[in-house]
Amino acid sequence: MRQLCYDDPVPTHSKRGKFITFEGLDGSGKSTQLEKLAGALRAEGSTVVVTREPGGTPLAEKIRGILLDSATRSLAPMAELTLMFAARAQHIREVIEPALEAGKLVLCDRFTDSTEAYQGGGRELGSKIVLELHRIVCGDLQPDVTILMDSDVAASVARARRRNQASESAENKSSDENRFERESRAFFTRVRDSYLAIARREPRRVALVDARGTIAETHERVMQAVRKKLKG
Ligand code: TYD
Repeated sequence: MRQLCYDDPVPTHSKRGKFITFEGLDGSGKSTQLEKLAGALRAEGSTVVVTREPGGTPLAEKIRGILLDSATRSLAPMAELTLMFAARAQHIREVIEPALEAGKLVLCDRFTDSTEAYQGGGRELGSKIVLELHRIVCGDLQPDVTILMDSDVAASVARARRRNQASESAENKSSDENRFERESRAFFTRVRDSYLAIARREPRRVALVDARGTIAETHERVMQAVRKKLKG
């Protein structure tokens, strides 16, 4: 077989894939819905890559360990913010961009909207610094569609705490992923308000989906929203 020369056109897939992200409060049920959407899209014949943030690569998962472990104490908000973007830079380079270039559908559990909502809103660092870092680290990469799962603050956080406690006692782990879930109700109210502000600012990209119904009802809403946004 002939070796590729530098002058040859770079072999790229004829059609770039689509980037779909899921956002919402802890315990809003987004991971379940993401898996159901992935199943439905695969059944229709799409090649789907499911991934998550912070994480998605071995190095980014190590950063996730630091960020989410409740044994991580007194992490400066700025350190938290930049670690989120450090993990993201690695994730984009190793997983997201190659998959999009290969024409695949990428479904990602959280992306920069989480940083804007949690660090920008929850930690009160503001949106501006998050959007600037996004531009520096991620360039013009933006999700084609974002599903924002809207749920009640109290119910979602209680659900996330129950889930994490159950997985901790089942696995008898020395570390856990509860650092954010220990935050106050005021923190999560700011997170939700920031999410709603993003949805108002970018209605073409972001579909606000009511996540208070049954899993099947919410799945139906997610499918409709994805179809509509991808068509548009
Ligand atoms: P996740 O595993 O999605 O938690 P859950 O399944 O409970 O929704 O996300 C982990 C936590 O990381 C979550 O509390 C939100 C937080 N996070 C940020 O604060 N900023 C970010 O940029 C990202 C990606 C996540």
